[in-house]
Formats: sequence, structure tokens, C-alpha cells
Amino acid sequence: MKRFVLLSAVISLSVLSACTTNSSTAPSFDDVLISRRSIRAYEPGREIPEAQLQELFKATQNAPSWANFQPTKYYAAVSKEAREAVLDLIGGNKNSAVNASVLLISTFERGKSGFFQGQQTNELAEEWGAHDNGLSNAYLILKARAMGFDTLIMGMRDSDGLRAQFNIPENETITAVIALGYRAEEPRDPVHKPLDEFVKFF
Ligand SMILES: Cc1cc2nc3c(=O)[nH]c(=O)nc-3n(C[C@H](O)[C@H](O)[C@H](O)COP(=O)(O)O)c2cc1C
Repeated sequence: MKRFVLLSAVISLSVLSACTTNSSTAPSFDDVLISRRSIRAYEPGREIPEAQLQELFKATQNAPSWANFQPTKYYAAVSKEAREAVLDLIGGNKNSAVNASVLLISTFERGKSGFFQGQQTNELAEEWGAHDNGLSNAYLILKARAMGFDTLIMGMRDSDGLRAQFNIPENETITAVIALGYRAEEPRDPVHKPLDEFVKFF
């Protein structure tokens, strides 16, 4: 009888600890939002396994886009040579991104979002492409954080140089380079505007 009670206790504890482990390893959505910050120092020499990169991009594909055109594309510099080529084309951001595991060039195809049967739909025209690209990038950086990675979106980059280096077609607009890796610093929380400057309720 004593043995049975002991065995039951061990089994119960194992189940409890498995649940606790699962819930503690998967961050809540709010944790992801709050802990995602722009990281400007990465751990050197750390790779991200290909399977995890695939998982990241598959999740990013859930981002909405105009008529589901999915205009965003990524060019992933994974090899040392490719990363070095990108680092030389991001000016002063090089110091921040030098140890990133992967550098992503984010682009969107023009003439897709904001258009219907080839005609501009409203005054925002191609800006809808940038809008949809931003949504994809937002999904990407949040999924990256949920997976334990960190990111830095960099708008300061040499788009002509990147286009030439990675054969990016002329019908794609290059928006940002995104550093992806493992944080080597704890960032400060940015100051956010008071809510009443951000939203007006009617
Ligand atoms: C479109 C865009 C371009 C950015 N470009 C740069 C950049 O070139 N260099 C940089 O260090 N940070 C860049 N940032 C990061 C912002 O400075 C950062 O998001 C902002 O200060 C808020 O901080 P947080 O991301 O930690 O919340 C960029 C962010 C966005 C969204």
C-alpha cells in the first residue's frame, strides 16, 4: 500500500512538473510583446538551426496582406560570406549587427498590394506594399522573440548595394535589413507616448 501511494505521488508530481515546464517555457503573448526590444549586441558564433528558421518563416507567412498578395520577400544571409557582405552595406549599423546569426533583407513586390486588376485602388498606391511588408516584419520579429531570438530592424542601409549583391529584382522595393540572433545585452525600455496621444476614443 505504502509503495502504491509513493508511486502515485511520483506520477502526480511528474505530470505537474511537465505542465509547469510547458507553461513556463512558452511565453505568454504579452511577454513576447514586452520582451521584444531592438537588440544592438548579439552573442558571437551562434547559429540558428535551419529547422528553426523554417519555423520562423512559416509563422511569418500568417501575416495578412492586401488580397492575400503576400508581396513580402526575404533574402536570408546565413553563411559567413553573405553576412559579411550585408554588414558592409548597413553603414553605422554594422557595430550593432556584427554578431547576428542571420541578416535578413526584407523587400516587397511593387504593383501588388493597393492594386486591383493592375489599377491603383486609392491614394496610398504602393504605400500599401510597405504597409504589408511592415506587417510581415512585425510577425517575424514577434515570432523570433517567442522562439527565444532577438532582432533589430535597420532602415539605414545601402539598398543599391544590397540589390546588386543579392540580385534583388528591380520590381521589389528593399525596405529594411533585420538582424536576427541571440541577445548579448539587456536593452532599456523605450519611453512610450501617453495613451491619449496615441489613441482617441469617440
Ligand atoms: C522601420 C524601422 C527602422 C529602424 N531603423 C533602425 C536603424 O537603422 N538602426 C537602429 O539602431 N535602429 C533602428 N530601428 C529601431 C528603432 O530605433 C526602435 O524600434 C525604437 O527605438 C523602439 O525601440 P524598441 O524596438 O526597442 O521597442 C528601426 C525601427 C524601425 C521600425
